[in-house]
Amino acid sequence: MNDLQILTGDSLKILPTLTAESVQCCVTSPPYWGLRDYDHPAQIGAESSPELYVENLVTIFREVRRVLSKDGTLWLNVGDGYARNGGTGNCGPNAIVGNTKKLIQKRNCKVPACWGLKDRDLMGLPWRVAFALQADGWILRSKITWIKKTAMPESVKNRPTSATEEVFLFAKSPAYFYDARAVREPSGANLRNYWTLGPDPSGNGHPAAFPRELARRCILLGSREGDTVLDPFGGSGTTGLVAGELGRKAILIEINPAYSQIVSERTTAFQPQLRMLPPPSEESEPDRRVTKTRIKTVNS
Ligand SMILES: C[S@@+](CC[C@H](N)C(=O)[O-])C[C@H]1O[C@@H](n2cnc3c(N)ncnc32)[C@H](O)[C@@H]1O
Repeated sequence: MNDLQILTGDSLKILPTLTAESVQCCVTSPPYWGLRDYDHPAQIGAESSPELYVENLVTIFREVRRVLSKDGTLWLNVGDGYARNGGTGNCGPNAIVGNTKKLIQKRNCKVPACWGLKDRDLMGLPWRVAFALQADGWILRSKITWIKKTAMPESVKNRPTSATEEVFLFAKSPAYFYDARAVREPSGANLRNYWTLGPDPSGNGHPAAFPRELARRCILLGSREGDTVLDPFGGSGTTGLVAGELGRKAILIEINPAYSQIVSERTTAFQPQLRMLPPPSEESEPDRRVTKTRIKTVNS
């Protein structure tokens, strides 16, 4: 296989085509629910309710577990959001605003009745996803707090500004590979579970890339040279780029061809014989996504 494969298409359809136990670790950050529009009808994060979002992630990461080697790990960064249940109008991130037909997404979108959420409730999505994955068979081994050196400004006066996110470490089995010597504290002590990281200095055309240092730590701790690293939400390809720099192979899946293009531009330096595959045929794989009213909501 090439050192870097970029598979353009829906992870729900592409993951089942990957060979079982062929990947050592998965480092990824799915879209956060209701935050951004990645301009694709099958995108994750645009479900009509956060419950469906959690269900879809469980389905995707079940496939990731199949693809991981027996001692493999998943490093998962997921963000939170607030329920805004006041006002009128449609629920969910795809609610049509006014007479526009454009997909509208807002961080604080109106949430349909679930989990007893009230207006302005923090949804607790990272932990809801973590518990759902745990119930589905994953072993939840660590919660790392990513402290952001540069927090996104928020115009709030009734709570502290959010400046942290979660990165969860999951294992497929109790005896998993973890190279504790690969990343240490400056004192030489075992790495702590809070990482203070700034954004990368230059943007890369993707609105939600994670810092290279975040990917670097996860890959070093979770794999050996020559292993294969997977990112089913490839974005601008940070995971693949860093994996290549560290002598790992990588498989990236990205639904939006424009972002796959950014990946190929960022990564051709280390991988000139880059392989970009077309999306699989719509008929080839059953779609196991929980869609319910999502598409309808977008178009109605
Ligand atoms: C938070 S971004 C990942 C950013 C990435 N970590 C980086 O550093 O650039 C999530 C990505 O998942 C993609 N995506 C959304 N739904 C998807 C799906 N069903 N299959 C594959 N990719 C998807 C989006 O287009 C977006 O680029």
